[in-house]
Amino acid sequence: MIEINGLVKKFGPFTAVDGISFSVARGEVLGFLGPNGAGKSTTMKMVTGFLAPTAGHISVCGHEVGPDTLAAQRMIGYLPEGAPAYADMTPLQFLRFIADIRGLKGSAATAAIARAVDRTEIAGVMEQPIETLSKGFRRRVGLAQSILHDPPVLIMDEPTDGLDPNQKFAVRKLIAEMAPTKAIIISTHILEEVDAICSRALIIDRGRIVADGTPAALTARSRYHNAVTLTLDAGDADAARDALSAVEGVVSMEEDARGADHSFTLFATSADEADTSLVDRVGNLAREKSWNVRTLYGEPGRLDEVFRSLTRPDTEKAQGDAA
Ligand SMILES: Nc1ncnc2c1ncn2[C@@H]1O[C@H](COP(=O)(O)OP(=O)(O)O)[C@@H](O)[C@H]1O
Ligand SMILES: [Mg+2]
Repeated sequence: MIEINGLVKKFGPFTAVDGISFSVARGEVLGFLGPNGAGKSTTMKMVTGFLAPTAGHISVCGHEVGPDTLAAQRMIGYLPEGAPAYADMTPLQFLRFIADIRGLKGSAATAAIARAVDRTEIAGVMEQPIETLSKGFRRRVGLAQSILHDPPVLIMDEPTDGLDPNQKFAVRKLIAEMAPTKAIIISTHILEEVDAICSRALIIDRGRIVADGTPAALTARSRYHNAVTLTLDAGDADAARDALSAVEGVVSMEEDARGADHSFTLFATSADEADTSLVDRVGNLAREKSWNVRTLYGEPGRLDEVFRSLTRPDTEKAQGDAA
């Protein structure tokens, strides 16, 4: 449904998007992950026809953005960063305005608005100026705008940014409900979101794709993949240290002493190897030695560690903010 090939965007001498290619099929929720300034929003603005690429091709449902931007835009629902809307309009006025722009008239417009209002649960605030709404409701009005014409493609730029946990949950649930029939791209820097709603994620750093895979496959690239963490009473720590390092398959160990607890994280032979039985061997040992076990678990890996190992902090922006 979405095909991107060799996409480049330069702002003067600065390259914000540096040769990005990927495609998205119906039923996929693709997550754009990346630090601030990685080029996520710029890519979305090009896909939605708001910014002309310096080079590359974008096709949405067979329509090429550039020669055929309007046809592509008819297929797309777009929630820009921060969900901008006309603050002095009520949601009803705003959605009627959007329906008009989308070419929906009369009963078709009324039905489309009713459906979007129902999905985003904003019926209670339809007559209240948008500027007086809470952040969560304003975001939902933006979501209603983006899905009004029931588009096959949805592009959402940080749809849950700045929302409280309940609001995040509601937005994620809505995206998950729509996922089976649409191709969806969302950007986020909230890593838990990737596991919660994305079927696939691209990690973007300085305008380039540095990883592409399912959340599980990306997580498995972590050095913590198949690592086992055992937390014991601090009193057992000295006895445990030697016994644990001798367990079959353990190649290295990290320790963390905290008050009454002492935790050991044991790294298996190879992060790639499916050594899921290490946790059983450690559990058997702990039972044999009668250690006072507080926690014991094997890890799928840590996405935040993968993210940090593949991306660089936005130093340029950090300096700008400090100035
Ligand atoms: N209109 C513009 N002019 C100059 N630089 C821009 C412009 N828009 C974005 N940039 C720069 O391009 C980079 C990527 O920005 P953006 O796509 O917004 O990143 P992200 O959404 O991943 O945080 C940033 O360094 C940003 O400062
Ligand atoms: Mg952005």
